[in-house]
Amino acid sequence: MNVHRFGTVSSTNELLREMAEEGAPEWTAVLAEEQTEGRGRRGRVWYSPPGNLYLSVLLKPDISVVELPRMSLIVSLAVHCALRQRDVSLRLKWPNDVLWDGRKLAGILMEGKTKGETVHYVIAGIGINLRDLRGEYPEELIAKATSCEEAGIHWSPEELLVNLERSIDHHRLSYRGAAWKEARDEWCAHALWDRDYIYDDGTRQMRGRPVDLTSDGYLVLQTESGRMMVQTGELVEV
Ligand code: BTN
Repeated sequence: MNVHRFGTVSSTNELLREMAEEGAPEWTAVLAEEQTEGRGRRGRVWYSPPGNLYLSVLLKPDISVVELPRMSLIVSLAVHCALRQRDVSLRLKWPNDVLWDGRKLAGILMEGKTKGETVHYVIAGIGINLRDLRGEYPEELIAKATSCEEAGIHWSPEELLVNLERSIDHHRLSYRGAAWKEARDEWCAHALWDRDYIYDDGTRQMRGRPVDLTSDGYLVLQTESGRMMVQTGELVEV
């Protein structure tokens, strides 16, 4: 991985997007110590003080737009695997959160460029909370967020980067055939879905329990009115 290291940036995803537009090759990455405009999923802000890990990796998978949900699952599985090296029980929450003790330890923002069915590139933006920031976090995050330090695992950003690189490299082509089936099964084995959630896609909300992933990586939700497949949105604790 060709890692470009920075101190303070607006957003590693934004910087890498600019590099991708200028023709950066696959496996280019941006690592920053701090972000001033860290982006979360669904337009949220990702609180990004120094001491945590902020990494974006450029991927150019040979897939179509319909298959894109697979990439999000694959990257979250790779992050989960890298963090698990330190013997800690972590779970995955659809679409791509890594949880410890039911709270978010790492979040992933997948962005990219597509045209019609074609995927030009994908940017996997990975934020991992390393330091215990409970005294510093904004109030609304304290109940929902945790960190490696709180989970009792200690990583420096550089040590974790080495593991992440190995793990993402190991998983990044697992979007087809037997490797995809294996990745999907492994993701399901670590998923936290033995409970009801409110599914919210911005336009509708409904209560349901996640039960499976389809072969394309869509989530299958058991709702009162039957099973439904969802591709975007999020699950909110009831
Ligand atoms: C989420 O909402 O769970 C996704 C958070 C993703 C945060 C990471 S930090 C590195 C990269 N740069 C960003 O601006 N966002 C992602």
